[in-house]
Amino acid sequence: MRTEYYTVQVTDGGIVGGVDGASDVFAEAAKLIRGGAPVAFPTETVYGLGANAFDEQAVARVFAAKGRPADNPLIVHVADRQQLDLIALTPSEWEQCLMAAFWPGPLTLVLPVKPGVLPSNVTAGLDTVAVRQPAHPVALALLQACGVPLAAPSANRSGKPSPTTALHVKEDLDGVLAAILDGGPTEVGIESTVIRCNAEEVHILRPGSVTAEQLEQALPGIRVVAVADIQNHRELDAADYVPPSPGMKYAHYAPEGELLVVEAEHHDEWLKWVSARLQEAKSQGHRTGLLTFSKKDGGGVADVVVVAGDATQVDTVARALYDALRTFDREQVTFIIAETCPATGVGAAVMNRLLKAAGHRFLRI
Ligand code: TXA
Ligand code: MG
Repeated sequence: MRTEYYTVQVTDGGIVGGVDGASDVFAEAAKLIRGGAPVAFPTETVYGLGANAFDEQAVARVFAAKGRPADNPLIVHVADRQQLDLIALTPSEWEQCLMAAFWPGPLTLVLPVKPGVLPSNVTAGLDTVAVRQPAHPVALALLQACGVPLAAPSANRSGKPSPTTALHVKEDLDGVLAAILDGGPTEVGIESTVIRCNAEEVHILRPGSVTAEQLEQALPGIRVVAVADIQNHRELDAADYVPPSPGMKYAHYAPEGELLVVEAEHHDEWLKWVSARLQEAKSQGHRTGLLTFSKKDGGGVADVVVVAGDATQVDTVARALYDALRTFDREQVTFIIAETCPATGVGAAVMNRLLKAAGHRFLRI
């Protein structure tokens, strides 16, 4: 399949799109989607790979393009409350309150699905559907042009970091999707917060840039429980840690090389331990990487050093993290050490993604 590539510029005056600025990109993209072909588009979090949520075949193409397991359901993106009402049962008072507070925006709600309207592959056969209204002018314009909700997972190959630029989408999916709308780098950089409300509590199923504190503020007196929080990680013993042998195969979430997350109370101590480990790995034939969230860490310690944002402003780390992980792949790095960032606010979501990328290899020295 030939992948069309459309640049869409977002300015204060509105949206300008088209190869020559003249053709209507959204009409073209909507035509492709109505014809059952997957189209990638930017949202404020990461790029999504969209299909008409009512079209089983089109949704199946999205699963195939990503290599995504069929038991992992998709998020359905809606233009407005009318589209939501087509696919979900009437939201509860709390759910309505959260939508009013955070939509359009990076909050996904898992709601009881309206029976008989969505093909079962969208929800992986569950009786719930995950829904959000994205806060990106390109995503909203596309939804308007299509006139149907879009089932859209992140537009990466399954197992890779989510794409925060159109180039990342191209790296993973060129030739297996119909078009990419390039709206520039995404603002937030990590995927939406996914929540589910029951009669007593709000459960965070996936942390994101809408934080537990913000949810609590929107629903005073209601308990917010972080189901998937960073406590899931397995801590390794610093004294016993041995870097992997080159060429050994590991099952990775991301990136290709082995990633280890290391924390220390004092920076000097951290750098000393990390430098020694990287040196050791280098002498065993590894191409080494260092992922830091501040400029102060030494160059020369690793073959490839990536500074992803600044930990004192953790939203900058969120924005830079996935591109940093992809950089190590492009540079064919086989062993990477990353530092941690404060797990407060959006930092909780950043640490969740970092530890996942590391296969939960974490140690404190
Ligand atoms: O920011 C985002 O959420 C991006 C952009 C494109 O909107 N989308 C995204 O989609 O990250 P995806 O497919 O990569 O992640 C969807 C997450 C998965 O963790 C999935 O298991 C969960 O939402 N999910 C979907 N439907 C669900 C359901 N009915 N119940 C529980 N979890 C669900
Ligand atoms: Mg994803």
